Amino acid sequence: MKKFTFTLTVILIFLFNQGFSQLATSAHDFTNGDAWNTNTSNKMCGVCHTPHNANTSVAEAPLWNHALSAVATYTLYGTGSATLDATINQPSSVSKLCLACHDGTVALDNGPLSNATMIGTVSASSNVGTDLSGDHPISFTYNDALATADGGLHPTTTTVSGMGGMINADMLFGAGNDQMECSSCHDVHNSANIAGLLLKTNTNSELCLTCHDK
Ligand code: HEC
Ligand code: HEC
Ligand code: HEC
Ligand code: HEC
Repeated sequence: MKKFTFTLTVILIFLFNQGFSQLATSAHDFTNGDAWNTNTSNKMCGVCHTPHNANTSVAEAPLWNHALSAVATYTLYGTGSATLDATINQPSSVSKLCLACHDGTVALDNGPLSNATMIGTVSASSNVGTDLSGDHPISFTYNDALATADGGLHPTTTTVSGMGGMINADMLFGAGNDQMECSSCHDVHNSANIAGLLLKTNTNSELCLTCHDK
């Protein structure tokens, strides 16, 4: 009986996690009727993805269904740092997909296939804006050479991410798995169900210490 109760509890916990983690009920669940959201179509994926006629203007934009920001020049991280080794570029790749909503210049409901009814732009607290000089740098090459040059970073090809593989495979983007982007820290789908849509927990700065050797 004890064993049965234990097994049942394990199964229930499993089912509970299946039902309530991930995208549903996260900040990216656009079906839950927040103040800015009168999405009546109940399409959870449709605001960002579409099976047809996708926006293909950005590399690494899987079946993308959202207009991109017209902002061409963001203010980049760097001027306030004397210790930065990386060369920071204008936002590219998946970061452009995030900024399509999070730089605050594009309406939330804005896809080739408009299939939701969302109001306005992201709220002030989620608006990173177009001045990224006070934000963790993104869209730059982070590889073993940078780690060596910096001295305070873990090499990407030989350091475990804590998520199954190495940093380069699990956290970096681009053809060479060496581009740092918004999604190097965030999980847009909330797969691991961690507050702040984080890729992994940042308790005791675990997320930061995955890459930074401090
Ligand atoms: C808020 C926007 C957003 C929503 C909502 C969203 N996605 Fe995504 N999705 C993205 C972005 C951005 C990427 C690019 C990869 C990344 O950033 O991690 C992506 C990548 C993907 C990929 C390819 C990479 C992977 O993770 O396998 C698949 C498949 C996918 N999404 C499926 C879905 C499905 C299914 C839904 C609905 C249940 C959904 N997405 C909802 C933004 C979204
Ligand atoms: C279709 C528009 C859209 C796209 C694309 C999008 N987001 Fe969001 N995101 C939102 C909205 C809307 C919210 C909730 C805003 C609010 O209420 O403050 C949000 C909230 C968030 C939050 C706050 C989570 C929380 O729990 O407080 C994070 C972090 C975030 N997004 C990261 C990202 C990242 C990283 C990407 C790209 C990989 C991305 N978003 C792509 C619309 C978007
Ligand atoms: C180096 C890691 C890292 C990178 C890169 C990163 N973020 Fe975050 N972000 C965080 C952490 C950590 C938080 C705080 C999460 C929490 O505790 O709720 C956060 C919070 C947020 C929030 C919630 C509002 C706020 O300001 O606290 C949004 C929205 C957000 N990030 C969007 C983005 C976008 C868009 C990008 C790319 C332009 C990005 N992030 C890049 C680590 C990162
Ligand atoms: C996926 C890897 C990764 C994660 C996770 C990460 N960083 Fe970084 N971070 C980097 C890289 C690479 C640089 C560029 C360092 C350089 O070129 O000097 C950087 C730059 C920085 C800088 C600026 C350094 C300078 O010299 O100007 C600070 C500060 C920083 N990160 C703090 C954090 C914090 C705090 C967190 C956790 C919220 C975090 N990082 C998470 C990879 C990461």
